[in-house]
Amino acid sequence: MSSTGTRLVVTGANGGVGRNLLTHAAASGTPAVAVVRSERAASSLTGLRGIDVRVVASDDAAGLAAVMQGASSIVHLAGILIESRDATYEQANVAATAAVVAACQRAGVPHLVLVSAIGADMHSPNRYRRSKAEGEQIVERAGLHATIIRTPILLGPGSAGAAAIVRTAGSGKAKLLGGGGYVMRPLDLDDLSRAILVACDRRTPGVHVHELAGPEPIAYRDLIQRAAAMMGREVTLGAIPIWAAKLGAALRSRVSGGGITPTVIDVITANEDVPHNADADLGITLTPLAETLAKILPGRPTT
Ligand SMILES: NC(=O)c1ccc[n+]([C@@H]2O[C@H](COP(=O)([O-])OP(=O)(O)OC[C@H]3O[C@@H](n4cnc5c(N)ncnc54)[C@H](OP(=O)(O)O)[C@@H]3O)[C@@H](O)[C@H]2O)c1
Repeated sequence: MSSTGTRLVVTGANGGVGRNLLTHAAASGTPAVAVVRSERAASSLTGLRGIDVRVVASDDAAGLAAVMQGASSIVHLAGILIESRDATYEQANVAATAAVVAACQRAGVPHLVLVSAIGADMHSPNRYRRSKAEGEQIVERAGLHATIIRTPILLGPGSAGAAAIVRTAGSGKAKLLGGGGYVMRPLDLDDLSRAILVACDRRTPGVHVHELAGPEPIAYRDLIQRAAAMMGREVTLGAIPIWAAKLGAALRSRVSGGGITPTVIDVITANEDVPHNADADLGITLTPLAETLAKILPGRPTT
């Protein structure tokens, strides 16, 4: 049982980060309320001991404030990289954050953790990065104690990033954007969950922005080759020119109203540059990349 009076409310709780965090919370005996938007999402979270699942619309300020009563920290995980006709950055990364912050103030919750993204920047030409920075600014100006954790690509069983690596590494032959030369800093989902729980136990006064990345910078093409070798497979990698991928994405997304856009391609092909890693500040020890890969690859041990 948590010894610090920690009681969490987690938004976006049915996403990849949310599920992992709730598993850690359940294992450490930390009471948590999981907030989701639909009964379908709620039913995907059954079976976690000590986790109370509530369905609340993301714009229902009174409903959000009601479920937040008595919480010591809110962990706001709702957010998107891929837009659709029904979900824009403005709605999912900005308005949903504003609603959660307002509810947090209304319920008198003293501390909030926001999971944001490396590269969040108000002045970025990239709409996703600007929307993440706007979400951060809403939190920073709210007068709450807050821990903002900017993350790179997250890897864990079931995460979108892990699924892409497994699919590509196992495909035998694949073309990567720009040849996959961009350098990533993959972060183990378990490490992020541990860092969030430490932040919620500490509830450090003030607003703190941390960049938390994995221990090993690696070019995406090397990551794929390494995963393939660990799976006992060979993969031949080629290149799709980034300009051609963006042109195709622009045309397709105009028709579908979302999906992979040039904005998304810019995000996923950028180097994940972290001048100061926050692992020590957040009180965690990072999992070596080889161990993280062993957790996500089929047929590998999960310890
Ligand atoms: N995964 C990564 O590699 C990565 C990297 C950097 C930053 N992040 C950020 O980390 C956070 C958690 O990521 P994740 O991987 O857990 O995401 P995820 O698996 O895609 O889950 C997203 C969650 O956000 C909810 N959501 C989406 N739009 C919403 C809206 N308009 N209002 C309220 N809730 C909404 C989803 O609910 P529904 O299921 O009901 O749609 C879901 O619970 C996000 O903010 C994400 O941008 C993730």
